[in-house]
Amino acid sequence: MRKDRIWPQLCRFLTSGGTLANLTALLSARKAITQADIWNKGTVNQLGIMVSEEAHYCVDRAARIMGMGEQGIVKIPVTDDFAMNTDVLLAKYEEAKTKGIEIFAIVGSAPSTATGIFDDLSKIAAFAQKMNIWFHVDGAHGGAGIFSEKYRHTLKGIEHADSVVIDGHKMMMMPALTTALLFKDEVNAKATFSQKADYLLSDSEHEDWYNSGKCTFECTKNMMAIYWFALLKFYGEEVFDAYVTQLYDMGKLFADLIEDEPNFEVAITPMSNIVCFRYCSPSLTLERENALNAKIRQSLLEDGEFYIVQTKLRQKFYMRITVMNPFTNIDHFKNLIQKIKRFVL
Ligand SMILES: Cc1ncc(COP(=O)(O)O)c(C=O)c1O
Repeated sequence: MRKDRIWPQLCRFLTSGGTLANLTALLSARKAITQADIWNKGTVNQLGIMVSEEAHYCVDRAARIMGMGEQGIVKIPVTDDFAMNTDVLLAKYEEAKTKGIEIFAIVGSAPSTATGIFDDLSKIAAFAQKMNIWFHVDGAHGGAGIFSEKYRHTLKGIEHADSVVIDGHKMMMMPALTTALLFKDEVNAKATFSQKADYLLSDSEHEDWYNSGKCTFECTKNMMAIYWFALLKFYGEEVFDAYVTQLYDMGKLFADLIEDEPNFEVAITPMSNIVCFRYCSPSLTLERENALNAKIRQSLLEDGEFYIVQTKLRQKFYMRITVMNPFTNIDHFKNLIQKIKRFVL
């Protein structure tokens, strides 16, 4: 990966999955931002992070593993279009402070898993800078959009992040499991699991770039760098642009087809290849509509041609697709819609 894609200088290593990478980034954030040497001495202080209520559950889990408890996960509500509501950040921060919670990081979703909607990373970055807290971007799904000329704008502001996670096994065509964890500042990346105080880190430790065991959670690992190397060597970066762009385009196309249908609706115009949609009918109550959509999804799963997952947004049950195969075409989408109509009849 070219170094200047996100930052001119960066430190990066690979971990086994986005879940572990998010935890590692938050550990680095805690080390860098809090005054105390928590890694060595522990803490009785109530620490906290800020994150959208639509973020992937692994961020919540990471915070709990780090001992912050539920009270340390300051959930930020979303706007009507499911992005983190950045207007309430200051109020939420002050509220947490009043309760004695020391916020040290804010996490932006790029995008959130359920809806595929990107948080406004520029606004989050500005807030993080103002409050002097760590800015982490969970780009497990959409971080690869940085390669897409057409969709790079979804990540505007990512260049201000202190750390970024990108899954190779999601939008970069690699076999599971390989995740890039990128740090703006090498010192923070290397200090995370260090038993030594920061001021004792020697130059040689900084230069010890090949020893990833020192800065990742895992000890033994697969040689996952081979996936990245092989794809870059054979196809070059262009393949990531082509892949992401094609799949995001297909997400938009599917949403357009759904919107042309009188008895279907999308939850939100997609920003990526994730689309939430549902069958709806004015003659049905919300409860019955939800039950019908759940039944449609179950029928589709049993039929076996399409794999559809589910999500609930503002009390409404949605079917959710993620277009992952670049050979998916409009006929597949039309077939899916026809199939759903047949199930309803
Ligand atoms: C936004 C986001 N973050 C983190 C994860 C977890 O990544 P992994 O499954 O690689 O642990 C996912 C997985 O779907 C995700 O969509």
